[in-house]
Amino acid sequence: MATHLLGRSEFGKPENEGNLMTIEEANELLNEWVPNERLRLHMKQVAAVMKAWAIEKENADEKTALKWELAGLLHDADWEKFPDDHCRVIVEELERRNIDPEVIHCIASHGPSYFGVEPNNKMDKMIYAFDELSGFVHAAALIRPTRYDGMDVKSITKKLKTPSFAAQVNRNDITDALSRIDIPLEELIDFVIQHQKNVA
Ligand SMILES: [Fe+2]
Repeated sequence: MATHLLGRSEFGKPENEGNLMTIEEANELLNEWVPNERLRLHMKQVAAVMKAWAIEKENADEKTALKWELAGLLHDADWEKFPDDHCRVIVEELERRNIDPEVIHCIASHGPSYFGVEPNNKMDKMIYAFDELSGFVHAAALIRPTRYDGMDVKSITKKLKTPSFAAQVNRNDITDALSRIDIPLEELIDFVIQHQKNVA
């Protein structure tokens, strides 16, 4: 993916803290902006993994978990229709809708080498880690006759070392994301498998 530097590090307005949208509203936006079913599924998978991580690992309350889920659900919302302006368009749309600045920052920082925005908090760092891993695990599921059934972590770590497999998944991003959090790769892969396998 080409770089689409956003050229700033502040997003949204502090007074909009706590302003979220419902999952139904976010899905409406996706249905309008993302005709590609596979890309929509990718965002739903990242959303499911983000929400589950917030609840299971970060002890998040309902509202915080919704923030994590929304960031996952919307992070690539502008990719299909605005490929040359990816990230800027969805960020500006969420600012126009007065959405919580943390959700917007999370989306803006989900690819620091592309958008030039550093992940700050745990939510930012986890979407960065999960985005590529989720796509990679799904690519691996698609070539298995039984899809997610019986998939094991080792087969994924092995494929990560095979550059020709799902070559579009940037291994450097995964390594960089992991260096910012103190969580083993195997644990993240297992979490992704468990929480996105039933997302349809
Ligand atoms: Fe993504």
